[in-house]
Amino acid sequence: MKPYRDMTPEERRHEYAAVKAHYDELRSLNLKLDMSRGKPGRDQLDKVSDILTVLTRDDCLTADGDMRNYGVLAGVPEARRLWADILGCRYEETFVGGNSSLQLMYDLIAKAWAFGLSHSEKPWCREEGLKWLCPVPGYDRHFAVTQLFGIEMIPVKMTPEGPDMDAVEELIKDPKVKGMWTVPKYSNPDGIIYSANVIERIAEMKPAAPDFVLMWDNAYVIHEFDGDYVPFPDILSLCRAAGNPDMVYEFASTSKVTLPGSGIACMATSEDNQKYLQKLIGIQIISYNKVNQLRHAKYLQNKEHALEIMKRHAAVLKPRFETVLNALEKEIRPAGIGRWATPKGGYFVSLYTDPGLAKRTVALTKEAGVVLTGAGATYPYGKDPDDSNIRIAPSLPPISELEQAMDVLCTALKLAALEQLNA
Ligand SMILES: Cc1ncc(COP(=O)(O)O)c(C=O)c1O
Repeated sequence: MKPYRDMTPEERRHEYAAVKAHYDELRSLNLKLDMSRGKPGRDQLDKVSDILTVLTRDDCLTADGDMRNYGVLAGVPEARRLWADILGCRYEETFVGGNSSLQLMYDLIAKAWAFGLSHSEKPWCREEGLKWLCPVPGYDRHFAVTQLFGIEMIPVKMTPEGPDMDAVEELIKDPKVKGMWTVPKYSNPDGIIYSANVIERIAEMKPAAPDFVLMWDNAYVIHEFDGDYVPFPDILSLCRAAGNPDMVYEFASTSKVTLPGSGIACMATSEDNQKYLQKLIGIQIISYNKVNQLRHAKYLQNKEHALEIMKRHAAVLKPRFETVLNALEKEIRPAGIGRWATPKGGYFVSLYTDPGLAKRTVALTKEAGVVLTGAGATYPYGKDPDDSNIRIAPSLPPISELEQAMDVLCTALKLAALEQLNA
């Protein structure tokens, strides 16, 4: 097949008729498929469900007391050690919370809003015109949090090495810029690993705001599905070495290690920040679910063992991603109407259609019974300036469904492209 752009009008009309016929055929199947969110598939959950039975009564009686009872606000030491091992930070810098890292992130911003953070001059709610840096495309739920607080979001372009640091270094000269979202390893959705150079420049930032917050959401820190674990630097040490010990808050969870929504989440930050925050958290809660923390510590043991468990997920995920990538390669590459990268970890394939096609493609896909993340969702306020990015989440549907879903997506994109070219 020729790239669509190089076809004669006659050839394009011909191609349109064929693609439209295939689309109508797919639509008549009344499919109900979902590639919208990065949820593990049932087969993944089955592979880690032995976690449900690992803990006994005696396990709860530890050297630090009876973990079935109230207390130990910062989390059970076994779980804190596990996170320090996975993230490469110090034990004292860890705080293990409940079942969601997003909740810890939201809570940090809510606390900044109501009370200020350790370096704040006043609560953020008493300041006007706050701004936030959002590398794009990014995670829609991050953007939803900053939007909810009315913080103006400033998109920053992602490069293959991470956020465009020239732009970031310029923007943080504005004292109204209070923070930045990052997903430094297997970024959502592009699957990019920030380069050593970008990470160093991030750690060395000199923001004008004294209480600037680097939200280091390491959601996919051990989430390789193709190839070996890729070592990743400890951002807390780097920030400390750069004279920014209190700037960074790192988040991670076991949502895609064990059971999403029933795992444990961690916030790692300097000891001074921990002291400040735990005073506030101690008013909000007596203790998180320590039984679940202990269950996870017993099940995952340490980083090495957690990486072993991640291989179970990889065995399921790799063929799923291959199904998506093969379909794009076969259907979209020859037509020359989109580009994408091949991630080795994380939960997404980030597809960039030719400009102006994403919304139409997602709408056509939906009409044929396949749900994708909304076009634009990966940008603040849902505004993708090129109307190009589509986030594909291959983890949930079984392969047979994924093949159908990709057939629908590729056909929809071709149809959208031909409509545009023939217009
Ligand atoms: C980058 C990123 N952060 C956080 C989360 C949510 O994590 P949790 O379940 O720990 O709240 C996700 C889930 O998709 C994610 O992609």
